[in-house]
Amino acid sequence: MQTFLVTGGIGFIGSNFILKASKERWANIINLDKLTYASNPQTLIQLQDSPGYHFVRGDIGDAELLSHLLKQYQPDAIINFAAESHVDRSIVSPQDFIQTNVVGTFQLLEASRAYWEKLSPQKREQFRFLHVSTDEVYGSLGPTDPAFREDTPYAPNSPYAASKAGSDHLVRAYYHTYGFPTLITNCSNNYGPRQFPEKLIPLIILNALHSKPLPIYGDGQNIRDWLYVVDHCQALYLVLQHSQIGESYNIGGNNEQTNLTVVEKICAILDELVPKPNFNYSSLMTFVKDRPGHDRRYAIDCSKISRELGFEPKEDFNSGLLKTIQWYLSHPTWVEQVQSGAYQTWIKQNYQDRIKVPSPRARS
Ligand code: NAD
Ligand code: TYD
Repeated sequence: MQTFLVTGGIGFIGSNFILKASKERWANIINLDKLTYASNPQTLIQLQDSPGYHFVRGDIGDAELLSHLLKQYQPDAIINFAAESHVDRSIVSPQDFIQTNVVGTFQLLEASRAYWEKLSPQKREQFRFLHVSTDEVYGSLGPTDPAFREDTPYAPNSPYAASKAGSDHLVRAYYHTYGFPTLITNCSNNYGPRQFPEKLIPLIILNALHSKPLPIYGDGQNIRDWLYVVDHCQALYLVLQHSQIGESYNIGGNNEQTNLTVVEKICAILDELVPKPNFNYSSLMTFVKDRPGHDRRYAIDCSKISRELGFEPKEDFNSGLLKTIQWYLSHPTWVEQVQSGAYQTWIKQNYQDRIKVPSPRARS
């Protein structure tokens, strides 16, 4: 069996990837994660005694640790999920985004290249470095613009998107300069189990369950393309197995939705699953001050991955949302653990000055 070094594997997408990899016996996994505020150490607790899984707490920017881990575990592939990942936090304090997403990725590339250069010719040939990135590097679309393709020029608008764009450029350069066998994926918004509740979907689910306001930025008409996280993980595995080196792939769900629709759908599911007498969850919807520089629309053209690697998302939005909500309802301890003091501080910081604004309907 192969060995994968997964970075950021306690986070949302990384943990879903590791669970799927373990279940489907893709590889033995070394999980390197710094355990920032966005991760719950209990997330993969069910794997702690599994012989094919090893967790290491550490930073992708720590060159010495990386060189030691690579030597010890001799991975066949590295999958880089580790990142600061929340746009709103990148607006409030961008420093950590540059440190992890740009400098950290650089250190990981350097250590991995040094390791790869010393491998036997056969292992060298098979080795892969997969960098997991976002569609946000392409910037914002107008209502009728064509969806992002792999050759759409980069135009990142937030410090988060700019830091991911920087890391993508470094990864690309390591392929072109050194022949280092890299792969890049740019995916749309993910949703599903184990997402930290600072992001829209889990935030809305948990606020609704606690009868708190459901904050909708601006007019709620911003559009995102939503993909169920397990489908994303499957796409990553296809890229790892079948892609030519140096390639990049866009991954999406063919599922553009306005934020308002997303929130309304969550409320409708909760009305069914957790009904309250004479109460609709949608009555908690609250329009608040917009995010600065808020990208209006993202849309992904994923015809390349579909054509070349046969990828199609399996989950549709209604069934995926239902599964997601059921997961949050059935994991109250996980939810309690992530809604710690640090989380409460963030909620205060991000929302207390976002004054409530009248709904667009009342405004017109
Ligand atoms: P997340 O914030 O849930 O998890 C990130 C993980 O990385 C956390 O466990 C954190 O502790 C770890 N980490 C942060 N800095 C680290 C460092 N310096 N060293 C080691 N570990 C570190 O993020 P996510 O939503 O799981 O996203 C994973 C990757 O996928 C990111 O690179 C993100 O840019 C990309 N992505 C996310 C989405 C999405 O919708 N969530 C969409 C497309 C791409
Ligand atoms: P988010 O989950 O932060 O992902 P991203 O900014 O990477 O797309 O936000 C998704 C959309 O939801 C985005 O358009 C911003 C909006 N949003 C709200 O309207 N209210 C909120 O409280 C949050 C966190 C996001």
